[in-house]
Amino acid sequence: PLPEPFRVPLPVPPVARPVGVDGAGAQVYRVTQRVADAEILPGVRTPILGYDGIFPGPTFDTRRGQPVVVRHRNELPVPTVVHLHGGHTPAEHDGWPLDLVLPVGDTSGWSHHGMVGDLAAGEREHRYPNDQRAATLWYHDHRMDFTGPAVYRGLAGFHIVRDDVEDALPLPRGERELPLMICDRAFAADGSFAYPGLDQGMRSLPGVEDDWMEGVLGDVVLVNGAPWPVHEVDAARYRLRLLNASNARRYRLALTVPGGPDVPFVQIGSDGGLLAAPVGHEAIEIAPGERFDVVVDFSVLPPGTQVTMVNGLDGGPAGRVMRFRVVRTARDDSRVPDRLAEVEPLTPPAGAPQRTFRFSRGKVGDHKGWTINGTSFDANTSLADVGLGETEVWRFVTDVHHPVHVHLDPFQVLRRGGEGPSDYDVGWKDTVDVRPAEVVEVAVRFSDHAGRFVFHCHNLEHEDMAMMATIRTV
Ligand code: C2O
Ligand code: CU
Repeated sequence: PLPEPFRVPLPVPPVARPVGVDGAGAQVYRVTQRVADAEILPGVRTPILGYDGIFPGPTFDTRRGQPVVVRHRNELPVPTVVHLHGGHTPAEHDGWPLDLVLPVGDTSGWSHHGMVGDLAAGEREHRYPNDQRAATLWYHDHRMDFTGPAVYRGLAGFHIVRDDVEDALPLPRGERELPLMICDRAFAADGSFAYPGLDQGMRSLPGVEDDWMEGVLGDVVLVNGAPWPVHEVDAARYRLRLLNASNARRYRLALTVPGGPDVPFVQIGSDGGLLAAPVGHEAIEIAPGERFDVVVDFSVLPPGTQVTMVNGLDGGPAGRVMRFRVVRTARDDSRVPDRLAEVEPLTPPAGAPQRTFRFSRGKVGDHKGWTINGTSFDANTSLADVGLGETEVWRFVTDVHHPVHVHLDPFQVLRRGGEGPSDYDVGWKDTVDVRPAEVVEVAVRFSDHAGRFVFHCHNLEHEDMAMMATIRTV
């Protein structure tokens, strides 16, 4: 039976502590990826794959310009790859899907469709320059063919970048700033995560197959790893860093109050950090991989009010997300200023290179799968060689819904369905939800770091079924 909603307190993932500073001045962290037991449903034991054995993993709370080194040790029974989503990261540290970290003590041959990357025995160090705007990033597993099952079992966490521009704004902070990782999961009778992979050991290919090609959904919504949690709040403004970390589920989030109008969201940031100016929304539509940074004002509500975050896209159990309980009046000096941060508009010059990428159903070898421009992922063939510093226009064309994510640098939405960008497209994006049979045009510019990167659909089953492509920055 599913647990009663709004009983479990909202957990906030612990902040990772650096173990030291290296010769180049970077803060050094260590993470051990290991199997652990978690109590997600009350009284039930769920085995997870966790960064430091927890789900979500520890939060990296970092500053712009302060480089960070994370040394990951893989004590799991399967290879892993860590990607910092939204990170402006050199190629060799980005988490190329074939750059496996092999389990400690396991040197058996791991190959993926005959493609081999840079294999590391047991440990790998990722260096993140953090030379980017303040933003809510997240890190998660990115192993070729197995990203879906690995993330589903727990390999995901927050990486927050802060900067002086953001610090100078009177936004809610401290206990009134909450990262919220939203994802859906299904549970088997024994309490384990029910991921419909063919090989539960995540060794033999494919990681997920035909029946699940639309994506894996669950009936329990977790926020920060807890089912439909509840959080007590002051009657004050709160900043919520919303992340959709689901494999395939999209949400239309709204804040309902019994007998009253919905509480609006004031969006202050997107995937790539602060907006130029706040944007009000009655609801937030969020696809896998996307982040919305919002401020919610509970100060207008009397103590005792229950505010329920619902998902308007589902009529069943996944139609509920979490609840806030306003418990006390309190002093609040925060506000949302009319001007937030500089957002340089990315305007493609006349004659800028144009590329079209078609996301559609297709064949991966003998199996069904997903393709970009008719081809499945190939590590050795670049679909786009892009000059560093050049602004290009990329056109994403879809058959069904595909949240398209580009590594290395954020982009800006120019047009959607022949019109201007929607209210949800503002600011710097690194993941854009392209709706069925739609065309979304974005301006991309890779500023530096020459090398090989990927872009892909962030529906993780689509990604594992080869809807990913290689790009090269030159
Ligand atoms: Cu969030 Cu390429 O991934
Ligand atoms: Cu897709």
